[in-house]
Amino acid sequence: MDQPKSDALVFFGATGDLAYKQIFPSLQRLAKRGKLTGPVIGVAKAGWNLDQLKARAKDSVEKHGGIDPEGLADLLGRLRYVDGDYADASTFAQVRKELGGAKNPLHYLAIPPFLFGAVCEKLKSSGSAQGARVVVEKPFGHNVESARALNVEIHSVFDEDDIFRIDHYLGKNTVQNMIFFRFANFFLEPVWNRQYIECVQITMAEKFGIQGRGAFYDGVGAMRDVVQNHLMQILSNIAMEPPPSPTVESLRDERVKVLKSTQTLDPKDVVLGQFKGYHDEPGVKPGSKVETFAALRLHINSWRWRDIPFYIRTGKLLPLSTTEVVAKFRQTPPVFSEDVPPQNYVRFRLSPDSQTAIGVSIKDTGERLRGVETELIAKQDGSAATLLPYEELLGDAMEGNQTWFAREDYVEESWRILDPALANLPAPYAYDPGTWGPDEASKLIQGAGGWSNPK
Ligand code: BG6
Repeated sequence: MDQPKSDALVFFGATGDLAYKQIFPSLQRLAKRGKLTGPVIGVAKAGWNLDQLKARAKDSVEKHGGIDPEGLADLLGRLRYVDGDYADASTFAQVRKELGGAKNPLHYLAIPPFLFGAVCEKLKSSGSAQGARVVVEKPFGHNVESARALNVEIHSVFDEDDIFRIDHYLGKNTVQNMIFFRFANFFLEPVWNRQYIECVQITMAEKFGIQGRGAFYDGVGAMRDVVQNHLMQILSNIAMEPPPSPTVESLRDERVKVLKSTQTLDPKDVVLGQFKGYHDEPGVKPGSKVETFAALRLHINSWRWRDIPFYIRTGKLLPLSTTEVVAKFRQTPPVFSEDVPPQNYVRFRLSPDSQTAIGVSIKDTGERLRGVETELIAKQDGSAATLLPYEELLGDAMEGNQTWFAREDYVEESWRILDPALANLPAPYAYDPGTWGPDEASKLIQGAGGWSNPK
């Protein structure tokens, strides 16, 4: 059935950081590509007026990717602003007024999750939920119970088909490429399993700290900020089975199946860290034990992956900013000599650039039959044609396309895996900024050849 395209976009949290860094640049590009229809209504409680929001939009695109005169003019022409409290009916009456004749608005809630339920309810009572879709930002709940409760609240207003749980990692071309590369290249499938792969490592390293977001970050920590969402999505892409049919739900089913077969995380399989100096960050509670680094080992009990460890590692103030996935193959026997050749691997670099590499061994120069490691590598530059993650995802949501959004059962499963460990988190070890986190993290991976640090 053809889905109606959204004919207005309302975004809550319009004066916030996310809007400034990511949303306006994406909207400018959507405008340029003729993907916006109807008004774009920013909502916030900042005491601003429309001119201030326009100035903010202009400044945002200038600082994040540059001004596109045509795109920006189109966006500014559509921009409206509603200033008000999310608890006041008058705010929503104003939104309704600005929507004019729009019949299928998209409401994007870039606001703290505790406000989702109340905002949805007010959208309904003010007559703005009928025929509408809603996009909700992460983190979706803070454990399985709160995620379920949130689902119930949102479902009392919107059908599942109209709910878009956004995770911007799913909008990255490099993250989508992991699925494409696996299933579009025949040579990989026969060896992409426990017979050939020794372990899989996912590393999301960030060179920067918490960038003034102390009040938010101290309430979530690395596990809830990026592991439960971004890194579990990467895990699903790397481990999923090929979808049996080219439908949205069949792709989403396969992603959920990975999580369903993932063993609940054992607190013993988690090592946490906190960078030295964290307590000096504004917004961080004195004595906070919140983790800025997490390393964990997961097991997927499927036919394909049983007994193969999946390692996840992330941290702030690490040596560089790079996200990589490395699947290491088992060791081959020596080739006519005592020297064991370097292990093969597949490496996906997801950011800051796009690389898909296969680590192979070739004969070293000289007389001996000795292997030397090299990479067969496919690089893609971030050309202008690459969609920004929010450009891709908001564009999809406006078209009612759920492919790259998390379904209700997916979110609940990801919490199910992490919950027992989250309830019993070990104390974080202190680590020096600019290092690969606490030394204890290397003990988690002993026997698997150690962590593959991105270069
Ligand atoms: C956000 C987290 O969801 O993702 C941040 O809240 C993190 O802490 C960011 O830095 C990373 O996103 P990206 O696209 O820059 O890798």
